[in-house]
Amino acid sequence: MRLFKDYKVFTDSYIPPNLVNREEKLTRLVDFYEYMTESPGEFSRIAVIYGTVRGRSGIGKTTLAKLTAKRISELAARNGYRIRPVYVNVYSMTGVNQILTSIINQLGIKGVKPRGSSPIELMKAILDDALSKDYYMMLIIDEIQSILKRRGFNEEQLVYLFFRYTEIFEGVVDSYRIYPLLVVFDMIEWGKMPGQIRSMVGLEVGLQPYKSYELYDILYDRIERGLVDSARFPPALVEMITDYLGYDKSGEGNARTTINVARQSVEIAETGGDDVVREEYVREALSMVGTFKISEYSVESLGLHQKILLYALSLLSLKKEGDWVTMGVLEEEYKTVCEWLDEKPRVHSQLFEYIKELSFKGLIQTSLSGKGMRGRTTLTRISPDIPVSPLKMLLEKELHLA
Ligand SMILES: Nc1ncnc2c1ncn2[C@@H]1O[C@H](COP(=O)(O)OP(=O)(O)OP(=O)(O)O)[C@@H](O)[C@H]1O
Ligand SMILES: [Mg+2]
Repeated sequence: MRLFKDYKVFTDSYIPPNLVNREEKLTRLVDFYEYMTESPGEFSRIAVIYGTVRGRSGIGKTTLAKLTAKRISELAARNGYRIRPVYVNVYSMTGVNQILTSIINQLGIKGVKPRGSSPIELMKAILDDALSKDYYMMLIIDEIQSILKRRGFNEEQLVYLFFRYTEIFEGVVDSYRIYPLLVVFDMIEWGKMPGQIRSMVGLEVGLQPYKSYELYDILYDRIERGLVDSARFPPALVEMITDYLGYDKSGEGNARTTINVARQSVEIAETGGDDVVREEYVREALSMVGTFKISEYSVESLGLHQKILLYALSLLSLKKEGDWVTMGVLEEEYKTVCEWLDEKPRVHSQLFEYIKELSFKGLIQTSLSGKGMRGRTTLTRISPDIPVSPLKMLLEKELHLA
């Protein structure tokens, strides 16, 4: 059973042709660098991209930087200039020589021996190549905060080589050939960066973690590109993932995790020989990234009627793919299970208390219905990171139903 049309669309190395819900940031950056597509070499401006919320990854920083460089080189080509995008992630690098070596390799510069050469010699080789072949570089330095923290790292060298090289090579290089674009993990790290670098930056672009609806658009776009038929991944399940991971719903707001969960859900379907993605697969995939794992203890420690209620909800979840369950429907199912067990059902207000507790324990989620449904009613569902079948089996054991 094939569901994937193009698997690589779901991998981390794939660069989407456009940034969903981030177009205005991209436009801002492209406008900022646009002058170099008209008269490159005259002066150099530097922009920085960072996350506005501490410690969040997968929010599109790297992709935004790469797409900026791509657009700029396309614009320049129309005007007859060559701007080559160069990308270095300095996260695991120890010094300036490694950065320069990576640039030399990407540009395909021959006849230089990075080992045993000084940074100045390497930089000279890069600039000579650019001058002789007449091109410019948009140099993305990703995760720049990490290299600056390395012990023994020479900050001055970095500044002079990449930002003030025209001073070192005065008389040799008569125009700017390198246009840096910096990517820093978050605002706090940016605040700790050396003043020398900060003062050279002319544009700061802050990115927020993604909200649910933004993740939805991003994921839907991938599904359309990567699956044989997007209908194989029901919208309600896309929403289940993005609802769980959205920043506005106290998720991480991480697009990478979102795409990975979808990829895993599809893989589970394919492995099982299924031709559609089902709620169970999504839950299983979410449970792999979730911090909450269903533990026997958290279920065993519940009171009898909480277990019955949770069991009723898990039965309903298995029937209704990704849907929220109204309080009324849940109460009916709960009463049915009570009958099987010969238990006297608890009253409505008591059930409400149980719902609150189950939600507090992270076993279920609650929401209020919109205005459409007569009055407003409480909606519930099993927390999306819990696979329902194993939960149901566990409860059957607990309730001696199996
Ligand atoms: N707006 C978007 N539209 C489409 N895809 C996106 C968008 N934002 C992020 N992605 C995808 O999400 C993944 C993570 O994005 P990216 O690597 O740019 O994040 P990051 O902020 O650099 O993360 P990190 O801090 O971990 O380096 C990539 O696969 C990227 O293609
Ligand atoms: Mg990144």
